[in-house]
Amino acid sequence: MSRRLVIVGSGIAGLYAALLASDAGADVVLLTKGSLEHSNTWYAQGGISAVLPEPAPGDTVAAHIADTLRAGAGHCNEAAVRLMCTEAGSDIAALQQFGVRFDAGPDGGPALGLEAAHSAPRILHAGGDATGARTAGALIGAVLARAARGTLTIHTHAHTTALKEHNGRVTGVEYLQDGTLRSLAADAVLLATGGAGRLFGQTTNPAVATGDGLALAVRAGAAPADLEFFQFHPTCLVAAATPRPHRLDGPLLISEAVRGEGAVLVDAGGRRFTKAYHPDAELAPRDVVSRSIALHLAKLGNPGGHVYLDARPIEQDHGAGFLGRRFPTLTRKTLDAGIDWTRELVPVAPAAHYWMGGIATDLHARTSIPGLYAAGEVACTGVQGANRLASNSLLEGLVFGRRAVEDFLEGSSADPSVPALTPRSGAPVGSGPCSSGGGESRTEPFSREALRSLMTSHAGVLRSGELLAGAAGTLARWAAVVRPDAVPGSADPAVHEDRNLLLAAQLLVSAALARRDSLGAHYRSDETLETIPLRPKASLSHD
Ligand code: FAD
Ligand code: SIN
Repeated sequence: MSRRLVIVGSGIAGLYAALLASDAGADVVLLTKGSLEHSNTWYAQGGISAVLPEPAPGDTVAAHIADTLRAGAGHCNEAAVRLMCTEAGSDIAALQQFGVRFDAGPDGGPALGLEAAHSAPRILHAGGDATGARTAGALIGAVLARAARGTLTIHTHAHTTALKEHNGRVTGVEYLQDGTLRSLAADAVLLATGGAGRLFGQTTNPAVATGDGLALAVRAGAAPADLEFFQFHPTCLVAAATPRPHRLDGPLLISEAVRGEGAVLVDAGGRRFTKAYHPDAELAPRDVVSRSIALHLAKLGNPGGHVYLDARPIEQDHGAGFLGRRFPTLTRKTLDAGIDWTRELVPVAPAAHYWMGGIATDLHARTSIPGLYAAGEVACTGVQGANRLASNSLLEGLVFGRRAVEDFLEGSSADPSVPALTPRSGAPVGSGPCSSGGGESRTEPFSREALRSLMTSHAGVLRSGELLAGAAGTLARWAAVVRPDAVPGSADPAVHEDRNLLLAAQLLVSAALARRDSLGAHYRSDETLETIPLRPKASLSHD
């Protein structure tokens, strides 16, 4: 009888792993808490970075590795980066086998986009700016075809609430479906549950991103890592500053690829300001650009305000109609919001986007608990370091989703002697500054809105020890009263998400308090004497 792999999550990591494992003959059960389309992956815009066998002139795998390490602020796991960049080409080929079609350039080869901190154009995209929907759409078609043939089982609207364990190994999951708590046995579980952008008030992430997988794994005793590093994307549309905010159906990221094509950032006075913060200006690493915006707004006396993205230079360079062709979704959605970006400025501000930290995994996507794998945004392989390079997330989900499957098929997950990993950061639950609190804490009761507002103001782009300690105190108070005892049996998925968000927030704040220096996306204004330039180029060199 074939061994069973339960995969939780239907983003790129879960879908791709499900296809590979199923085609290799494993008994695969794919669980996802919404419909198959509900994921961060679905909304991905810019694309997937990869150096293909026929790269852009001058590009090499070595350059991709160097760019990833540099953007990661020296905090990447270099072995994992080398592996990801080297293996990218074969996973892209496999993706195409599963039906993903990338946009073609004039010569018939793939059209390659440029994004910030990449030294060459190497971003594969689909549907212009609809890479996520096109990629996930193709993979969903492929899993549904297998489900129809009976070679793969899918449970949608199946909210995983706990990991089952026996003798120190993970042996299955518990999940809620139709108001009933069910359980499923497995030889191994792969968590592919994505990130937790919903921790923050301004986020690019859809509603499913509530940190469930991290919380489940940590409760089961898995080691987390790098939780202080949360990436804020510089350019999320500020809906409230648009003429028709009600026409938008959720947060709208304005892809970095737009800056890659030549859009610039200006303040309310029409001044370009990013060059004052980094020589690469709008194309500096993402953490730097977000911080430049936050610091510039603070300097202007408008903290928490917004700046503007000016995409008009793109049409001036490429001719009328280019924006609509290259970015059809963004053109439509900005128009929906009442902005014609061929003629008008787009109000933007940084928004929580991607968690570099997660469940610590090795190069085979194994966590510290036998029988438990993690891949994609929920995992911390170390490839993203302290700040992820643009378009490396979808790639990480592919490469490490596949490596988890390979390890499972080899049977090594059955070996209980997989070494425990040492957490690189993140205090155990209930210990450290989170539980003791400190600083100014808030008095209002817990609600998702209160949590998101707290995390934005106290643990966002600019942090300080005082703010973080205040957040820790408030979180500890909330965690004590949000019905901890009622939760395990609750039939309400929102209750589980609340608990998961709270735990994720505590872990993040605890890790952020523990790291007193600034690094990558973690910026302690109280510990950093010099703020300009934010990250001098020289200090990023790995030569
Ligand atoms: P996700 O795609 O987030 O999928 C997680 C899945 O797990 C979902 O199906 C969710 O419903 C399910 N799930 C969660 N909790 C549970 C539970 N308790 N029980 C059952 N199921 C659960 N990255 C790039 O590389 N290139 C880009 O161009 C790019 N653009 C982006 C644009 C936007 C707007 C956003 C938000 C992100 C973008 N990113 C991009 C980041 C990237 O999309 C994500 O990091 C990546 O898609 C994560 O994939 P994943 O498979 O790990 O998780
Ligand atoms: C974007 O298109 O700007 C998002 C790319 C990413 O998150 O990697």
